[in-house]
Amino acid sequence: MNYDVLIVGTGVGGLYTAINLNENIKVLMITKDSVRDCNSYLAQGGVTTILGEDDLESFISDTLKAGNYKNNVKAVSKVGKNSIKNIKNLSRLGVPFEKKDGKLKYTREGGHSKNRIVYCEDQTGKAIVEELIKVVKDKSNITIMENTTLTDLLIEYNTCYGASIINNNRLIKVNTKAVVLATGGIGGLFNSTTNFASMTGDGLALAIKHNIKLKDMEYLQLHPTVLYEKENKGRRLLLSESLRGEGGVLVNLNGEKFIDSLLPRDVVSAAVLKEIEKTPDKPYVYLDMTGFTKEYLTNRFPYIYEECLNRGLKMESDLLPVAPAHHYCMGGIEVDLYSRTNIEFLYAVGEVSCTGVHGSNRLASNSLLEALVFGENAAENINSKINEITINLDKVNSFSDSINMKPLINYVKGKADHRYDKLFNC
Ligand code: SIN
Repeated sequence: MNYDVLIVGTGVGGLYTAINLNENIKVLMITKDSVRDCNSYLAQGGVTTILGEDDLESFISDTLKAGNYKNNVKAVSKVGKNSIKNIKNLSRLGVPFEKKDGKLKYTREGGHSKNRIVYCEDQTGKAIVEELIKVVKDKSNITIMENTTLTDLLIEYNTCYGASIINNNRLIKVNTKAVVLATGGIGGLFNSTTNFASMTGDGLALAIKHNIKLKDMEYLQLHPTVLYEKENKGRRLLLSESLRGEGGVLVNLNGEKFIDSLLPRDVVSAAVLKEIEKTPDKPYVYLDMTGFTKEYLTNRFPYIYEECLNRGLKMESDLLPVAPAHHYCMGGIEVDLYSRTNIEFLYAVGEVSCTGVHGSNRLASNSLLEALVFGENAAENINSKINEITINLDKVNSFSDSINMKPLINYVKGKADHRYDKLFNC
């Protein structure tokens, strides 16, 4: 197959890159499962935006503080500065952000010093992905292939010439001018995660194979409030941080507050783990939403309310058992401010990439923002040079028909801190 651009992954990063590419560029998007099986789809809380130019400094300060000052300040500033424009663009495309009297409503999550997160009930990611899919499907220059797996990258002398993929048991060489990796995170490697099981870090595994630069892979994020279910393995039910942003509180098994529920995630997760250590037979604490009426909860958090009810929990009257689970990988393929990797014509966007925005601990709701801004960046960079590149049909004729995950698993295990020991499922 010959395409100008191959995008691997259909989360917000991949979709937003695709829709920002010029319409004369022939694009192939592939995804392992269905187009909706991406972590972006599961994002509940919302998307961060600055409230106006005068909020930029405060946004940067909150992001750096949450990230323990390990962030790339230029990247943080870039996402902040480009936030309003991209939220406006999503609204224009039809994303139904919550509004009051025609004005956006803002919620809050841990580590933010004020309400600055736009949202669509408690399924913001789903609302955005659905609109972006409609836009992509309307574009005649973009083809989507589902149930199609990346097996290798065609790289020679530091230049990417395409990739190999498998569809219907057929191994296909795709010759391209540029490849964009948007393969998402690594939650599929863990037995307790908020991610889809298919998120196995395929892009990262190929980065290790081809010596593509990785950065900050030791920074893994636990989400503090994931519903504890003894019998459940793999993907767990996320209880959005916006529940705490709207007034929910964390209490221990004695019903006592033990932490400010709105501190950054790493701090709250550490406090929850410390509390849990005291009661090994009951390895959870509680999220208390009983201060709210059923009417409020079913309007503001309809998805979470329903999911809890399906498990026999009434949010207005029952305490919700929660424990930390793997949520996000701050590290990834190192990219510059234009989403470029160290390999010519290879880009990375979204969770697979490391822009440096998140430092060692991502501030809540900054991931969708990063995917939008760096997706747009990737597209603009490709648009500006696509005419100078030719598709090279004869390059790299030997490639693998599957990805060897072992080196990535060993690499992540070697980097992760001891809190992750029990979480690996491989
Ligand atoms: C949440 O809603 O708590 C998750 C949002 C995020 O990961 O930023």
